[in-house]
Amino acid sequence: MTAIALLGAQWGDEGKGKATDLLGEKVDYVVRYQGGNNAGHTVVIGDQKYALHLLPSGILSPGVIPVIGNGVVIDPSVLFEEIKGLNERGIDTSRLKISTNAHLITPYHRTIDKVSERFLGKSKIGTTGRGIGPAYADKINRIGIRIQDLFDPSILKQKVEGALRDKNQILIKVFNRKGLEIDDVVNEYLGYAELLKPFVTDTSLLLNKALDQGKNILLEGSQGTLLDVDHGTYPFVTSSNPTAGGACTGSGIGPTRISRVIGIVKAYTTRVGSGPFPTELFDEDGEKLRSIGGEVGVTTGRARRCGWYDALIARYAVRVNGLTDFFLTKLDVLTGWEKIPVCVAYEIDGKRVEELPASQSDFHHAKPIYEFLPGWNEDISKAKSLDQLPANAKAYVKYLEEISGAPVSAVGVGPERDQTISVRELI
Ligand code: IMP
Repeated sequence: MTAIALLGAQWGDEGKGKATDLLGEKVDYVVRYQGGNNAGHTVVIGDQKYALHLLPSGILSPGVIPVIGNGVVIDPSVLFEEIKGLNERGIDTSRLKISTNAHLITPYHRTIDKVSERFLGKSKIGTTGRGIGPAYADKINRIGIRIQDLFDPSILKQKVEGALRDKNQILIKVFNRKGLEIDDVVNEYLGYAELLKPFVTDTSLLLNKALDQGKNILLEGSQGTLLDVDHGTYPFVTSSNPTAGGACTGSGIGPTRISRVIGIVKAYTTRVGSGPFPTELFDEDGEKLRSIGGEVGVTTGRARRCGWYDALIARYAVRVNGLTDFFLTKLDVLTGWEKIPVCVAYEIDGKRVEELPASQSDFHHAKPIYEFLPGWNEDISKAKSLDQLPANAKAYVKYLEEISGAPVSAVGVGPERDQTISVRELI
């Protein structure tokens, strides 16, 4: 009867896979609305671990229809690799629906992503190298290739020709690379057409009809609020809108149909790639968070940068997404510290600042001002309610709730689906 958006409140990797998977059990559709195979969701079910990059988490729940919306950029080679991997493990993927308007990532996007990063040298973004930025750039430039183009070979050829006219010049003359053959790209992509056909549909129509019929829809964000191309730490961002507005444009559902916006927030902070990160740790505490939290990228295998919880980021996520709830993840990782710092404000040029600075230069200079909360040593991984947590762990959650600006409605205390404290029903 409603659409719910679930998205990252920090720089991604907040544990969205588990949250989506958990809530996905209660909905009829799970929709990805932006990003591509730069995402990495890990879902643990029993003794099985699934790493998903492009497919919506709902693919693992038999009663759910997983949807890749128009706002996603699709690398078909990755899509079919992921489908094959799941099929080999006995997971049925035939329910998948893909928007006819989604854009395609092509070999030239991947090449340009990698070479342009190399050319940026020290100023590099630290992209995942999957061709995401160049594919979105073509979309905005109106020279992108959409899923529907695969079903019209002459249009496909025209569009590839148009795109490669510039791209080959850039590859050869600027980056000193080989150009791509139009026919190679066209033939490879025509080969995907038949495979894709059973999945492709008008997903906006499908989803709106589903809402009319009283179905529940979960809109699953990838990356996170601070990686949003409009609201994130630009230019160290991804090239799409993970924030709540993107859930509408990337799925074809109007904002009035979304009743709840849930922000997934980790009990500490991580980011991958370059860019400012005021609470980043360079000492053994950072190492400890990384090793206990398993903070290594699912997609790239890169070690994540780690730091303490930053309430300014959480409040900003409430503001730009209109968050109604937080789903706090990985509280168990903080077990074993005597004191846990929480960033409540920044010092910028000698002044105390309580909101995320609008200027990137200020953000780069921001020094965290911490409150120190008492830690706990007890194992919390089996707690089923806030009252089963040690007093200091419960106080930590309550404190975060107070300073972050939205209620904490669920708390993750371990990687399994059932290692979650439900404070308030989310659906
Ligand atoms: P791109 O999305 O590959 O263009 O990379 C742009 C920035 O977003 C880089 O800093 C990446 O590390 C970051 N990024 C992209 N996807 C994810 C993700 O799923 N989690 C965390 N960071 C991501």
